[in-house]
Amino acid sequence: LDNGVARTPPMGWNTWNTFGCDINETLIRQTADAIVDNGLREQGYRYVVVDDCWFDPNRDAQGNLQAHPQRFPSGMKALGDYLHSRGLLFGIYQSPLDQTCAQYFDTFPGSTGSLGHEHQDARQFAAWGVDYLKYDWCSPTGTIDDQVARFAIMRDALAATGRPIVYSINPNSIHSKTGPQRDWSDVANLWRTTEDITNAWNTGQTNGYPMGIQNIVDVNVPLAGHAAPGGFNDPDMLEVGNGGMTDTEMRSHFALWAMMAAPLMMGNDLRSANTATLNILRNQHLIAINQDALGRQAVQVSHDGTRRVLAKRLGNGDVAVALFNQGSSTTTISTTAAAIGKTGTSFTLRDAWTNGTATTTGAISASVPAHGTVVYRISGGGTTDPPPPTTFRLRSNSA
Ligand code: GLA
Repeated sequence: LDNGVARTPPMGWNTWNTFGCDINETLIRQTADAIVDNGLREQGYRYVVVDDCWFDPNRDAQGNLQAHPQRFPSGMKALGDYLHSRGLLFGIYQSPLDQTCAQYFDTFPGSTGSLGHEHQDARQFAAWGVDYLKYDWCSPTGTIDDQVARFAIMRDALAATGRPIVYSINPNSIHSKTGPQRDWSDVANLWRTTEDITNAWNTGQTNGYPMGIQNIVDVNVPLAGHAAPGGFNDPDMLEVGNGGMTDTEMRSHFALWAMMAAPLMMGNDLRSANTATLNILRNQHLIAINQDALGRQAVQVSHDGTRRVLAKRLGNGDVAVALFNQGSSTTTISTTAAAIGKTGTSFTLRDAWTNGTATTTGAISASVPAHGTVVYRISGGGTTDPPPPTTFRLRSNSA
């Protein structure tokens, strides 16, 4: 979406993965402080997104949304002011239907979705200083065309406020997660491509709830052709630091999200994050790959079922390559400079995890542990495009 924001994938933190509905203004303020104190803001993490359950389950007499009186007694404007005072940005959650997802599932009874209130809510968000809206279609009801129409109303309502607001949508309850997916870049800055992530390497699910890290990669990789500045596939928020994976798996998760030009939305409790977790989240080589101005999502160069090679062309002519081992034992994964779009006879490889460098005349190879991902940034020589990405397009829609 050409609205001036999300020219690179947004980075930040979201309440949902760790806290669900159990949120309040103290938690958000403490997290904002932790983002600053741990040097995460300097690495680019700026959007603090308050997910579902922040609101009073009833609108006021004028139909306005209002903050939950016990959880956010100071109100949402004050929260936004605090985030802004810390050099951060303010994100919030709503739904295009009559209920948010927690309301739909009755864990937070009420009916305060934005249906029929889109312009009123957009103006309210802008008045509170909101910089990012997560807009979640949580119902199997409706068609893709209904979704396009509804999501477009809020797109236009946000634009009408005049405030730059990242528009992040979740159409995942209707579209197939395993086949073609619509390219939503005419509607939103970010669009979810899978069911909800869970804190596990592999759930075996590729079209059901919830999905593990590797299952999400399987679905999101073929959608690479949709990513560009202003519009990115959203394979859901990070589970780094949440304890359901080995360190190797957590590093893979982060490396693959970086390569897929995914939004990097942390989902852990940052008030108690340990150094190992913080060092994954602060990996500046991977963040630079993720935030590259060209806005490409890595394309698949090869995949034999276990060994997967992804390549992401970067703005300065470098190419990032990921060697991902989906198997259960250590294996050597190899590709070549030519296969990832490099021309020439001499290249430098920089390892994104060790910062070590090596030179090569063309061979790119590493011994990769089970579930591990080695990432090299390849420089030198010229650059052509890696093989064209597989582009899935469900159908064209006019809105
Ligand atoms: C859906 C979304 C999640 C989260 C919850 C909130 O499940 O996919 O990311 O926003 O709703 O209820």
